[in-house]
Amino acid sequence: MKVLITGAAGQLGHALRCMAPDFIYSDITGEDNVRLDITDAESVNAFVESNSIDTIINCAAYTDVEAAEDNPELAELLNCKAVGILAEAMKAHDGLLVHMSTDYIFGGDKYDAPIREDCKPNPTGAYGLSKLHGEEAILNSRVRHLIIRTAWLFSPWGRNFVKTMLRLTSERPVINVVNDQKGTPTYAPDLAAVILAALEAGCEGIYNYTDEGECTWYEFAVEIARLAGNTACEIRPCLSSEYPSKVRRPSYSVLDKTLVKETLEIGIPQWQDSLKECIVSISKSVEK
Ligand SMILES: NC(=O)c1ccc[n+]([C@@H]2O[C@H](COP(=O)([O-])OP(=O)(O)OC[C@H]3O[C@@H](n4cnc5c(N)ncnc54)[C@H](OP(=O)(O)O)[C@@H]3O)[C@@H](O)[C@H]2O)c1
Repeated sequence: MKVLITGAAGQLGHALRCMAPDFIYSDITGEDNVRLDITDAESVNAFVESNSIDTIINCAAYTDVEAAEDNPELAELLNCKAVGILAEAMKAHDGLLVHMSTDYIFGGDKYDAPIREDCKPNPTGAYGLSKLHGEEAILNSRVRHLIIRTAWLFSPWGRNFVKTMLRLTSERPVINVVNDQKGTPTYAPDLAAVILAALEAGCEGIYNYTDEGECTWYEFAVEIARLAGNTACEIRPCLSSEYPSKVRRPSYSVLDKTLVKETLEIGIPQWQDSLKECIVSISKSVEK
């Protein structure tokens, strides 16, 4: 198997590199990885051809949910058109495209139970819509694919909620965090391990994967502060309507993981346990 990682400078790319250093890692800057812009079809095709790539794990995406409302074309370019380029490149070589999608393709309909893979998507914002279009581009191309829908990624790398909350709860006396959106925090290394297990098992199709459990952003923030010992900051629950945001986010987007658990015969870590691991890892890197 000759595996290319795209968007390797992001959270998931970093997590995969720790576990599978022999893959080829690429990103748009070329600073720490091979330079590859996934919106450039000519470069993608040439790279796939000259390196005999038979599997692409696409970690590149436009992931800024708020900014996507102001830049829907950019979100579509990265999350749909470029995904179509990767799909065509793999289709031409009978290769496999592994791609990440999101719980934010749901939210327009009200759910009160975990959402299964076969539920009808109904996104509430430009990011979710562009990710749904990316899934459709893959399905329409008829490339061999593994699409994994995940949620609320956190890790020691890049920008994420955990790092923001660690900073805010150490700097401010009071913060407000929304308490009427429920989902599942997911540690990027846990997701990376499942991607590798699914590859090994030859899985294709659409699967949900998040860590185990569910919480609101407020409950997530409280646990982050507790584990970090940032007890001086008062964390207040608030409503989404009180928090300035351009995008309506899903009020409930917990994903059902029955399929991935039964297929891979795995136990899934509880998000609080993985959060603890992440905070230890962040504090070790700060100490260095
Ligand atoms: N983060 C979440 O909470 C979350 C939740 C559900 C699903 N997902 C999905 O999971 C996947 C991984 O997410 P993540 O959090 O690891 O993303 P991330 O940290 O935002 O990483 C995405 C990477 O893609 C890069 N990129 C942007 N344009 C590119 C281009 N034209 N060519 C190559 N690379 C490009 C970005 O570079 P720059 O930073 O320089 O733009 C960034 O390094 C994505 O598909 C995302 O939609 C994420």
